[in-house]
Amino acid sequence: MTKTHSPNHALTFQEDTFLSIPPTPTQLGDSTQAVHSGRLENPYHSIAEPLVSTATYTFEDTRAVSDYMRHKLWGEPLERSEYGRYGNPTITAAETRLAALEGAEEAVMFACGMQAISTLLLSLLSAGDHLIITDNLYRKTRQFCTSTLPRYGIECSVVPLNDRLALSAAIRPNTRLLFSESPTNPHNRLLDLEQFVEIAHRHHILTVVDSTFATPFNLRPIEWGVDLVVHSATKYLAGHNDLLAGVVAGKRELLAGLREFQGIVGAISDAYTASLLIRGLKTLGLRVQRHNENAQRIAEYLAAHPAVERVWYPSLPTHPDYAIGLRQYKGFGGVVSFTVKGDGESVARVLDALQIPLLAVSLGGTESLVSQPAVISYYELSRKERQALGIEDNLIRYSVGIEDAEDLIADLEQALRWV
Ligand SMILES: Cc1ncc(COP(=O)(O)O)c(C=O)c1O
Repeated sequence: MTKTHSPNHALTFQEDTFLSIPPTPTQLGDSTQAVHSGRLENPYHSIAEPLVSTATYTFEDTRAVSDYMRHKLWGEPLERSEYGRYGNPTITAAETRLAALEGAEEAVMFACGMQAISTLLLSLLSAGDHLIITDNLYRKTRQFCTSTLPRYGIECSVVPLNDRLALSAAIRPNTRLLFSESPTNPHNRLLDLEQFVEIAHRHHILTVVDSTFATPFNLRPIEWGVDLVVHSATKYLAGHNDLLAGVVAGKRELLAGLREFQGIVGAISDAYTASLLIRGLKTLGLRVQRHNENAQRIAEYLAAHPAVERVWYPSLPTHPDYAIGLRQYKGFGGVVSFTVKGDGESVARVLDALQIPLLAVSLGGTESLVSQPAVISYYELSRKERQALGIEDNLIRYSVGIEDAEDLIADLEQALRWV
């Protein structure tokens, strides 16, 4: 692995320099994979992934160009790239690690979660196709499916989550794809994966699940037969509220077209973001364990509090998907949503009184964040429209971080006096 100078004196590396190590065998534990999968050999012997920040790549001579293009046309695995929009070694390392964590053959990284979702759907669907989404989806995903895709001749139906009859009845001869999310944002509803996949398989329809809230440590949808998994990697996967990224993971044959489409539309991330994401992934197991534990304690505390009306956390027997959670999920993540016995004004007083969580949208980072969905993510809707989506004025979404649970609970105790 030595540095060489090409005839035009540009600094290049010998061909094997950035070979990625073969994917880690799947029998290794999730945390081992989070720390090691996709590590690149590099000329500096550095543990941290080399941050290869480049727009393009040099070839030693014209023979190397034609060899490369021949491999590409035959669809053979490529050990290098020709241009930054088609590939980058640091991004490849992040993708390899993400694929190992999801138990997928391959993963494709994007600039954010919405770019992953929109690029995937545009690459899979054509005018005349129909897709079905479940209700309670992240608002922008729902908007993209119900408002943007119809402009390109793609129809969308919305069905209630886990409603077997409604889902079966919505299927048409041109239905190509079912899209769902689990746990959902913000009510932590859980998709019954067994039922969802069984219906899709019966009708030979592709399934896609947004697993952002779950992370591969709480749920691996591919193990339940789901075809493609998407994440806003901005949240738990990166984990530090310092970057935006998205990922789609699944079978290589399904992702080949997506990769090509990505190169056409330029829906790409960058090496710096990929290297930060890799760093975040190394501690994902530890963080998710802590998020799960902290959120569980806070959910139990809130459920017993006299000023709290209802708590949406799937480990509580009062949650509508408690039984599904017991059967299919390993944990429920860090988001606890709850309504207080008061109105929007009461919520504002509580949020202003809280001392530890920061008032911000987003979730899944080390810092606890709180928001009132009615006045931020759903602000422009009328109260009636918000209520139809279950977004009550007295709803608080609490993304529980990795701080000490005792401190977070003591803080809630003083703030809830303001209800
Ligand atoms: C469940 C879910 N999916 C997708 C997204 C979009 O991700 P991004 O903000 O990275 O585009 C979000 C953002 O909050 C989300 O919560």
